[in-house]
Amino acid sequence: MITHSNNGFVSGLEGIVAAQTRLSHVDGLAGELILAGYRLEDIAPRVSFEEMVHLLWTDRLPAAAELASLHDDLARWRALPQATLDLLRSAAVAGRSSMDVLRMAAGTLDLDLHLSGHDDVILGHMLLSRIPTAVAAYWRLRQGQTPVSPDPALGHAANYLYMLTGKMSSAARVRGLDTYLNTVIDHGLNASTFTARVIIATRSDMVSAITGAIGALKGPLHGGAPGPALDMVFEIGTADRAEPYLRAKLEAGERLMGFGHRIYKVRDPRAEVLAAAARELYAAGGDRQMYALATAVEETAVRLLAEYKPGRNLQTNVEFYTALLLHGLGMPTELFTPTFAVGRVAGWVGHAWEQIATGRLIRPASQYTGASGRTWAPVGERRAAAALL
Ligand code: ACO
Repeated sequence: MITHSNNGFVSGLEGIVAAQTRLSHVDGLAGELILAGYRLEDIAPRVSFEEMVHLLWTDRLPAAAELASLHDDLARWRALPQATLDLLRSAAVAGRSSMDVLRMAAGTLDLDLHLSGHDDVILGHMLLSRIPTAVAAYWRLRQGQTPVSPDPALGHAANYLYMLTGKMSSAARVRGLDTYLNTVIDHGLNASTFTARVIIATRSDMVSAITGAIGALKGPLHGGAPGPALDMVFEIGTADRAEPYLRAKLEAGERLMGFGHRIYKVRDPRAEVLAAAARELYAAGGDRQMYALATAVEETAVRLLAEYKPGRNLQTNVEFYTALLLHGLGMPTELFTPTFAVGRVAGWVGHAWEQIATGRLIRPASQYTGASGRTWAPVGERRAAAALL
């Protein structure tokens, strides 16, 4: 529903077209996501994350030599500056959440670079490469473990799993993570991508744009939902408890995490791809009961949302099966949103480059709703607000 008020004000900018992009196209009514010309379901489960990044950034899938070159370029940036590691250690002592720490750390990732001016191409590569290292290092420090140095021989997804666990992961797990990262790599003008574009459009720099985008992604109405979505499935515990549990939440006016979307009015196509990836992963040796429970919760939630919010078309979104897939990969809920950032940073960077190319400042207008005709009085003659007396 588009909520117009007078003077063309559109609440939440819903339906407003504020950028042109060749990166991705979201068709919310057809339930279709196109990534640089490919349907999500055709490309995400088939290519590595590096292939997907190459596609997004250059508009072409790489030939073997190009893929090797991108791999080498990303691998050489992986190690963190010492100051970032020091910050992560202090944050672990303070027990801060992983997303807060990723936001703090992002602004330090270029400390060891000596660039003349801002080279937003180099910074884009560096950020894509180092964000997983920062997430994994912090996670280990929080567990009282030593960070694991990146392995330049491994691909992006395999290396992230290696830095988290200190062990080599099976091909099935790497495939699961590649599919996840590919699925969330870009999604039109979502809130964090818009944030990155707004920042870079002021001719600020790539590190600022990505740091701001991380802050936007963190919120539960954007990237912060998969943890709560999984907690909900855990709390439900068995399929027969799904209906009374979800009904009680809706009766209390609460939102069901992992459902509803500003653009999609049908099932989010990313949910489809991630559900298939989770099915494969769990079939290869996971908690199959968990998969069965999640599908029962999904079916009940969609049915009850239609009952409580008729006409709203509230369907499963990307976060619900993100939770199940990342849980299957052995990740705790706290890593879900940072792992979303590990994938989405490639989209943020691609959009920021596109925005730089337009050379145009993003500066919308606002509608004034405040008082008018006030006259100034000296401080001694002003009355305090009643609540302050
Ligand atoms: N559970 C219950 N009710 C919901 C839900 C939900 N998950 N989502 C929307 N609604 C209801 C709202 O309460 C509202 O009802 P009302 O008109 O009776 O007050 C109506 O549906 C419309 O909601 P809006 O907030 O206007 O819809 P909007 O387009 O702003 O919301 C959003 C999209 C924020 C994703 C919402 O569906 C939501 O909060 N979902 C739960 C959180 C979540 O899953 N977030 C991840 C989104 S995916 C991503 O960003 C990567």
